[in-house]
Amino acid sequence: MKSFYITTAIDYANGSPHLGHAYEKVLTDVVARFRRLMGDDVYFLTGIDEHGQKVQQSAAKRDIQPIELCDEAAGQFKELCESLNISNDDFIRTTETRHKDVVRKILQDLFDRDEIYKAEYKGFYSARAEQFLQEKDMVDGKWPEIFGEVTEITESNYFFKLSKYQDWLIEHIKTHEDFIFPRFRAKQVLEFLKEPINDLCISRPKERLEWGIPLPFDDGYVTYVWFDALVNYISAVGYGTPDFEKYWPVDYHVIGKDILLPPHSVYWPIMLKAIGVEIPSSLLVHGWWSINGDKMSKSTGNFIEPSEFVKEYSVDALRYFLIREMSVGQDSDFSDELFTNRYNSDLANDLGNLLNRVLTMTPRYCGDTFPARSVDEEPEKELEEAWANTEGKVVELYEDFQFHKGLELTFAFIRSINRYAEQRSPWKLAKSEDQKDKDTCATALSLMAESLRRAVGLLEPVMPETTARVYELLGYESDAAWLERLKPSDALTGAKVGERVILFPKPQQEKK
Ligand code: MSP
Repeated sequence: MKSFYITTAIDYANGSPHLGHAYEKVLTDVVARFRRLMGDDVYFLTGIDEHGQKVQQSAAKRDIQPIELCDEAAGQFKELCESLNISNDDFIRTTETRHKDVVRKILQDLFDRDEIYKAEYKGFYSARAEQFLQEKDMVDGKWPEIFGEVTEITESNYFFKLSKYQDWLIEHIKTHEDFIFPRFRAKQVLEFLKEPINDLCISRPKERLEWGIPLPFDDGYVTYVWFDALVNYISAVGYGTPDFEKYWPVDYHVIGKDILLPPHSVYWPIMLKAIGVEIPSSLLVHGWWSINGDKMSKSTGNFIEPSEFVKEYSVDALRYFLIREMSVGQDSDFSDELFTNRYNSDLANDLGNLLNRVLTMTPRYCGDTFPARSVDEEPEKELEEAWANTEGKVVELYEDFQFHKGLELTFAFIRSINRYAEQRSPWKLAKSEDQKDKDTCATALSLMAESLRRAVGLLEPVMPETTARVYELLGYESDAAWLERLKPSDALTGAKVGERVILFPKPQQEKK
């Protein structure tokens, strides 16, 4: 069976992990967990991008070797994955032999087939962006700030014949609706491709840059960092071995909007086409987070340390916020206020209070185990109907990457359970001597617990620890497939009620 193969971008080794990296990993993890729950054999890759001028310069500034800087960064990004509970199967570093060998093999292959040629280049170069520029990159006659100092240089370099594939690429994008998600991003790529594209300079002379993969056919040069980095997606899954077929073509490359054009939508498909490999099924392009309405930047202090939020709240609280707040593909803003509002209203109040009610009232009014249900009147029917309208829709929304809407519906259902609790008011029924009231009280507590069990099931791709914890507190154990677990059942009848805990304490409250 072919695996469901999904990747994140590989992060630059010369920066520290920030909220943008955290989001991309969490989003990819949510898709990966969802697909696993749906029965796919998932393979999830992430990693870091270690070569290039910026790494060489940052290491030189600190008077250390580039590899020492990369080792440090690899540690930090692996820690980020652990702290966010990311379920990646592999973590690739572009300095690993398994990767470097594949890059060199591909370069040699392209060179042997005349897809790479040497030519003299005269033009503008930005050291900061590690990229050659054209006059059309100027804005109002000036180089935009992101390019830093731009100098005019003349040098011989190797070029990859991108331009001859332009028409093929345009045709592919036009005829493969699913190639770029969301679709409006495909329009931007087609717009870009209206102008002729240049061949890609894939080498850097060693005297200017040493920290890279030497070209196999000319060791006076190293490989351009994007050509090197993109190859990680195939070097990690055994390109050139029989294993490769199990993973390729990749199902989704999850990337931010800034690296769609040109690397992922132009260079990468053409590189693959030129070596005779199928191109990716789909690029899932997400938007960018700003903080307090501004660009994220460490130097101005407008920066969020994702691990601080995990420490202060919980990993699931951060995962929930990131996925609930951003519609995949659009931009979003992060602020302490937005975070605490969501945390307090959805997690502490709606979900936390419901769990609290179930764990406090059941032992008080019914004993140590969850009772059976014997009453089925209008309030029960309404709650069951609310579930029937939620479950299938949420799964469909998840399938479509509309996770924020799926969570919105799930929390609307959680609020329906709370409304049902108010309507039935077990605390009042428990005072009655009447048998019918006693039965209704038992039914209400049982149905609240059962509905909560189903609701936290829907949260599993996003908040796996919360689902496991609530299952445990409800005494629920099951080996059944996920979709089965979402179905109504009386599995909780007779299950032992867990001890009361506060899952999402308000900052001034103590966790138990
Ligand atoms: N190394 C390249 C990617 C090579 S992939 C073969 C790179 N690295 S990066 O560290 O700058 O960015 C890694 C990912 O984080 C990118 O997909 C980028 O879009 C994403 N983000 C960086 N800042 C972001 C936000 N502020 N918000 C959301 N995602 C952001 O590019």
